Amino acid sequence: MMDSIYLNGAYLPLSEARISPMDRGFLFGDGVYEVIPVYAGKAFRLDEHLKRLQFSLDGIQLDNPLTTEAWQEVCYQLIQQHPGADQNLYLQVTRGEVTTRDHSFRRQDAGTPTVFAMCSPLKAPDKELFEKGVRSVTLDDIRWQYCHLKVISLISNVLLRQQAEDAGGVEALLVRDGWVTEGSASNFFMVQQGVLVTPPKTHQLLPGITRDLILELAEEARIPVREEAVKLETLLRADEVWLTSSVREILPVTQVDDTVIADGKPGPLWHKLTQLFSEFKINLHR
Ligand code: PDD
Repeated sequence: MMDSIYLNGAYLPLSEARISPMDRGFLFGDGVYEVIPVYAGKAFRLDEHLKRLQFSLDGIQLDNPLTTEAWQEVCYQLIQQHPGADQNLYLQVTRGEVTTRDHSFRRQDAGTPTVFAMCSPLKAPDKELFEKGVRSVTLDDIRWQYCHLKVISLISNVLLRQQAEDAGGVEALLVRDGWVTEGSASNFFMVQQGVLVTPPKTHQLLPGITRDLILELAEEARIPVREEAVKLETLLRADEVWLTSSVREILPVTQVDDTVIADGKPGPLWHKLTQLFSEFKINLHR
């Protein structure tokens, strides 16, 4: 049987799903989203992702159309189409369909939000990327000033990622006034003399779920951690650099632009945290 997606209360095949061109998500990119990894049939850190969804909704002044229990049920139903598999769960809420295109959203006959959710196979990143590490390309962070919200208007992130790939990297490292903020779809860490460093949560970066988990795991393992802003020139001299996200987990960066990071190989703390991360996943599913 063909997989179903969830759209506004119904489960139906993707090919039958229809959205109005007058949806504010289509017209304005007016909406928010979440990407949640599913390991062995269980949504990973679902509570945290649903909390961040609420945070993003609050940030764009849109009431949550579903209760937490209703979100959990939608996720469960989609995951159950492939029980036990690793999957990628995508949730999206837009401000919905309107009758006239108007920037302001309170004058409109406030429509109902559009709720969309789908599950697709989770492709683990290539083994080679983990073994050799990846190249990252620094670019000017041209995004807006509310990067702490997970909004669907991603044109800057899309252009930046493409620019990084066209320049032979796997991800962009974004720099604002000399400070590294995050990747186009990831957070970053660096290791400096045995200390794990990542920027604190501000409006300039997404509060990554993977980022928070890594900080928790490091603290439990008594690895020293510092949340502080990082200058690009400091990053280039780091002992290790990593990118983190729900789809790529912890990716070692061994080259930034033309600078090779340390000895050009994934470092010891990357190995350690990757091991702690997979143990954490396994223990959750026992
Ligand atoms: N992106 N920063 C940005 C700008 C991101 O888009 C993401 C994730 C992250 C990492 O957050 P988390 O650890 O919660 O996945 C940081 C998702 C995967 C995406 O847009 O597809």
